[in-house]
Amino acid sequence: MPDPDMFNEITAIYPGSFDPATLGHLDIIERASRLFPRVLISLSEGSNSKQFAFSVQERLEMLDRIVAPFDNVTATSFSGLLTRYARQEGSMVLIRGLRAISDFEYEFQMASMNKYLANEIETIFMMTSPRYHYLSSSIVKEIARLKGDIAGLVPPELRDDIEAKFK
Ligand code: COA
Repeated sequence: MPDPDMFNEITAIYPGSFDPATLGHLDIIERASRLFPRVLISLSEGSNSKQFAFSVQERLEMLDRIVAPFDNVTATSFSGLLTRYARQEGSMVLIRGLRAISDFEYEFQMASMNKYLANEIETIFMMTSPRYHYLSSSIVKEIARLKGDIAGLVPPELRDDIEAKFK
């Protein structure tokens, strides 16, 4: 039987590119903050093949702003393997949001590979709230680029930065 007190010490990591963070990400952040005593929103500095619109500093600064209201949530960045970073932070839980069936294959592969690399670390999936199922960072960037209204898609405190980027 695990010691019940260990649940008071768990650090969960919600990793991602957050290019930029959307209301869908914020939905997961809010819910994770209620489940875990300490949550790190951890920005990957870019070992995947994506081309980013926002620099690491810009993305981290935006994450700092949206996590400010949560006492137990901190924005961080990491380079290299996520599992190595999780071990450094003493974290045994990774959180990922799942929007639709289409996310499953990629997430399944990533969770399985992370399990292979660090067997003690568990990936926990949270269903994205239905109102955000259609949302992605790419869609937000496309709408901003085409001068559409992104107000209902991103945290209000990020709106000006995102619009300014695509002026
Ligand atoms: N609401 C809205 N959108 C969401 C969402 C949610 N709840 N959850 C995910 N998304 C969208 C994002 O907007 C993003 O959209 P985009 O493809 O249009 O940019 C996409 O889903 C995924 O982005 P994000 O959640 O930011 O994460 P990611 O898939 O870019 O992150 C890492 C991947 C960083 C976790 C992964 O590459 C990693 O761990 N890298 C470190 C290196 C490593 O360890 N590699 C081995 C891994 S097996």
